[in-house]
Amino acid sequence: MRIIKLSIVTLAVMVLYSCSSDSPQQQAERNGNQVQETEFTEFELEHGIGPVTEKITLDELDLEKVARGQAIFNSKCTACHEFDRRFVGPPYKDILERRSPEFVMNFILNPGEMARRHPEGKKMLAEFLTVMPFQNVSKDEARAIVEYFRTRTSD
Ligand code: HEC
Repeated sequence: MRIIKLSIVTLAVMVLYSCSSDSPQQQAERNGNQVQETEFTEFELEHGIGPVTEKITLDELDLEKVARGQAIFNSKCTACHEFDRRFVGPPYKDILERRSPEFVMNFILNPGEMARRHPEGKKMLAEFLTVMPFQNVSKDEARAIVEYFRTRTSD
């Protein structure tokens, strides 16, 4: 009987101990996560990760670019994006109010990494549960799509 009591006490102590302190592996995981959260620069956190690493300037609306962007968008993007309602992906209405032009371009050009690694991409992936596939769009074409998005606002 005594031995049983003793082993119950030992067990309780062990359980308490394992609850209160992390194993080295748990600690490493925690530290690993911290490293991940700070692995991005300010620029990357706001504007995404991908080939666009500097601010771009939006000049006066370039209608030729708008038309080109619209044509690409209609052929490669409308399968998953609608103007003002959630579809496979988020609506594109007012996207430039939510996101910077650089973020939009990086998302178009690097959707897989954005969804898997970037904090904002991860949030969207958790919501939409689909990784947007790369649509074979060049940087120039992504810029044209941004120009088209400039015309797609609610007013
Ligand atoms: C197969 C479906 C699919 C196609 C095709 C697709 N997308 Fe997406 N898109 C998504 C999903 C899903 C998301 C949400 C993020 C995620 O889960 O990867 C998304 C997210 C985005 C975002 C980020 C939106 C935000 O609110 O930050 C942009 C910008 C975008 N897509 C643009 C495009 C453009 C431009 C094209 C065409 C070149 C395109 N997408 C083609 C599915 C798609």
